[in-house]
Amino acid sequence: MKKRLLFGGLILSLPMLIGCQPVQTSTLNLYTDRHYEVDQQLFDAYEEATGITIQVLKMDADALITRLENEGDASPADLIFLTDAGRLGRAKSKGLFQPFDANLLPDNYPEKYTDTDKHWLALTKRARVLVYHPDRMDADSLSTYEALASQDLRIATRSSGHVYNQSLVASLALLLGEEATKSWLSGLIERFAIRDPLTQSRQPVGNDRDQAKAVFANQADVAMMNTYYMGRMLTSSDPLEVEVAETLSVFFPNQSTTGTHVNISGIGLSATTPKQEQAEDFIKFLLATSSQRIFADENFEYPILNDMEPHPLLQSWGPFVEQDIDFSAMSIMTETVYPWMIEAGWN
Ligand code: FE2
Repeated sequence: MKKRLLFGGLILSLPMLIGCQPVQTSTLNLYTDRHYEVDQQLFDAYEEATGITIQVLKMDADALITRLENEGDASPADLIFLTDAGRLGRAKSKGLFQPFDANLLPDNYPEKYTDTDKHWLALTKRARVLVYHPDRMDADSLSTYEALASQDLRIATRSSGHVYNQSLVASLALLLGEEATKSWLSGLIERFAIRDPLTQSRQPVGNDRDQAKAVFANQADVAMMNTYYMGRMLTSSDPLEVEVAETLSVFFPNQSTTGTHVNISGIGLSATTPKQEQAEDFIKFLLATSSQRIFADENFEYPILNDMEPHPLLQSWGPFVEQDIDFSAMSIMTETVYPWMIEAGWN
């Protein structure tokens, strides 16, 4: 341990010893499925501050997990950074992480956003909300995720194959139990608004942004989507996306019951990295207030630190009650509920 500390300290102090010129003393290999420019901005800032390059391998989450499994003990990965607790749970169940030192967590970090065995920790969070057109609908007609199954509303949501929906269903399964969740699912799919162009069956099409566009185009009344997409659409180069985001309103469901579903992006040390100390230093950098500010302001994600304000856009929607959920349990539950979704007819 002592040796590790010395090595980490030496790497960090080298740029200072040599002068202002950043020196590439080392690299950390980071595997990620995140697709946001803000991440590279932070990686570049870290390199500038320390001389350590963050070498990024960006892939779809399933491919990334398979690649890590195939690489096995020879994997050059030092860090794994994934969106959604479900994916983090999958990576953990395959033995891809090693525990991090819990002392790296700052005092203002809420422990509930870490894996119980400290295999991963959340860096940012997002809420899965309902969006609607305020000219066509009143917020009073919305209440809970559960109520959507029995309301006369056309619902737009992406496929069951996407982990965002699997995690939402997993969270409800933990709160409501299997029977109630299955019956909710069978009611919900009857309300799906979007029809498959070939079969005309009610099937989800597209990503979260497409669901909002369906509401805007009056093909649906309510869309389920992650909060950061509203911010990203408002700042999009596509004028339609800006108009959609400017027009639609956000509703936080389950405010007087179990709270709105919140999910995370999380990071952990790969099982194979010998550079624990350096990798943990990088995680500390991402948890610093300045980095959290960048995640919040550039990508409209909720900061993970409990004393930080979100972006003004998110503040304008007001504070909300989050689901009180065990993220580790939810991360494992996604694999259980996916067959329930398919069984109910949610393609
Ligand atoms: Fe996303």
